Amino acid sequence: MSDWLAVCERGDRQAVGAAVRHLDAEGSLEFAATADAARRAVFESAPGELGVVVGELADGVSDVNLAAAVAQDGNARCVVLARRDVTGSLRSRAARAGVDLVVRLDVTHSSGPARAAVDDGGRRSADPSPVVLPSVRPLGEDLAERAPVIVFCSGRGGVGKTSVVAVASACAASWGMRVCSLDLDLSCGNLYSCFGLPGGVDLVRLVGPPEGVAGLRERLGVSADPGVQVLGPCELPETAELVSPLAGELISCLVREYDLVLVDAPACFTDAVAQAAQLADRLVLVCDGRPGSTSALARTGGLAVRLGVARTRMVRLENRVSPRVRRDGRRPLAGDGLEAVGSQRVLDGGDEVPDLLGSGQAVELASSPSPFAESIAAFVAQTLSELGRLPDHEGAVRAATGGEPRRRPLFGSRWGAR
Ligand SMILES: Nc1ncnc2c1ncn2[C@@H]1O[C@H](COP(=O)(O)OP(=O)(O)O)[C@@H](O)[C@H]1O
Ligand SMILES: [Mg+2]
Repeated sequence: MSDWLAVCERGDRQAVGAAVRHLDAEGSLEFAATADAARRAVFESAPGELGVVVGELADGVSDVNLAAAVAQDGNARCVVLARRDVTGSLRSRAARAGVDLVVRLDVTHSSGPARAAVDDGGRRSADPSPVVLPSVRPLGEDLAERAPVIVFCSGRGGVGKTSVVAVASACAASWGMRVCSLDLDLSCGNLYSCFGLPGGVDLVRLVGPPEGVAGLRERLGVSADPGVQVLGPCELPETAELVSPLAGELISCLVREYDLVLVDAPACFTDAVAQAAQLADRLVLVCDGRPGSTSALARTGGLAVRLGVARTRMVRLENRVSPRVRRDGRRPLAGDGLEAVGSQRVLDGGDEVPDLLGSGQAVELASSPSPFAESIAAFVAQTLSELGRLPDHEGAVRAATGGEPRRRPLFGSRWGAR
């Protein structure tokens, strides 16, 4: 638990309080009456004792100048500027002045905490007020002007999200697309390891510097493959909370830098995932048929609906389907409340999948004639085709139309027995 000191207009205290809870759920917060009192209190505190939040101030010193002065005094653990109106140039100024983080009050922190179900005369019933989660500015609808965003989530771990995102990214890159694979498992994600990388780009690097994500593709050295850039998670798990409120904003920038943005979510539905889900052109709900997987999927799908994600944007992806089960003969998944949602499947790839992904060979796996890789390629190609963004590439067109699979064995007869 850490101590925070904030200074802002009285009417903004609630919103600033919510912002601090987003950054540090356990932290304690006090408000200073004036800018001078805030600066003095930080000056007199022990170094690193206080995190400082500077909100908008009606008179006297400007908020940016006050935040800069506090940062220069050097005692604060971190300095956060909290504003309704955040522009790129404000972020640049703030970063140059030593401010650690700029948060937007109205977009990311206007919500109260999600309320639990209440007991209604012995019967459990849902809280009548909807769960309020952070809302994000929608991306432009015109997919000709930006990359599509496909978000993979599940409500439980181990169903194959990371594996599918890794191989899907490599497939799309092999069709000539510039792919960003964003790992929103901010504290513990391991997407990078599927590509044999020592780590992904630390997302904290993107929230601090004045240039943000502009020109990101050119600036970043870490690339999994010509065509795939792995972003995230946060190198230090404790910095995840700084990045989480900015996930939506990050995705809004990435769609202008890449041809395709694929998002790997953690098992739980965090604020970052909520923002990504709202921006998704496709929200892919992954399940694997094991006990509990379908109900976790139903809970996640229900939450997405309450967030305002249209069912037409959702797709259910059943992973680890036996190659022997014919498409029309698969087990129906009725009763999970998502019957109206389209359904796709990824075939079981056996032990080779963990073997190859565990040794960082996502790219090799994607280009192999594995049923796992081919079903993922088909899924990605069909999704891109639905979104009107199927690349003009022979492999992509073949995958989208379910044409003859590739026969290019890279691993001897590994998949030859199909
Ligand atoms: N279709 C599949 N066939 C075989 N193994 C799979 C398949 N999908 C996932 N796996 C394996 O299952 C394990 C869990 O997958 P992972 O992608 O880490 O799940 P999640 O990201 O949902 O937690 C990994 O070892 C992965 O290689
Ligand atoms: Mg995972």
